[in-house]
Amino acid sequence: MIPADRHLVLVGLMGSGKSTVARVLSERLGRRVIDSDAVIEARTGRTVRQIFETDGEPAFRVLETAALVDALAEPEPAVIAAAGGVVLRDENREALKRSGARVVWLAADPAVLVDRVRAGGHRPALDQDPAGTLRRMHETREPLYREVADLIVSVDGRSVGEVVEAILR
Ligand code: S3P
Repeated sequence: MIPADRHLVLVGLMGSGKSTVARVLSERLGRRVIDSDAVIEARTGRTVRQIFETDGEPAFRVLETAALVDALAEPEPAVIAAAGGVVLRDENREALKRSGARVVWLAADPAVLVDRVRAGGHRPALDQDPAGTLRRMHETREPLYREVADLIVSVDGRSVGEVVEAILR
């Protein structure tokens, strides 16, 4: 059961389906979606790729923390699709825990993600060696996703509908 007064936050690697699952969940729960990458792009008037290329990843991570903290502070419970790297900073993981939000990790085999993920666009990290990058990201981040997750849902071989049902159950 998802408490009606808590945010629902989706975390997981790029390509794990956070945005799609968030959209379906928002319809089912009658909540709005807050997507941290979209918040950053709206605030800066630049794309995630432009920010990575011009200011570098550390600058992007600062914007990402602000987007997450502000989303968690929204009084109306939402479905928050948090970008894949949101668990990297200690302060973000602390903010997730402090907020009382319900955090769902969409867990995926990185080898499966390679076929699902669309490189380019807002994912400059995958421009080179997407398979190796996803595998390394999985190794680094797995314990961090686990640390913040109230619920772990495997997305491997599951449709969006099945993932949504698993979360709602
Ligand atoms: C990133 C994930 C991307 C985007 C940026 C960095 C990451 O978002 O924020 O390319 O480090 O995992 P999605 O997880 O929504 O693809």
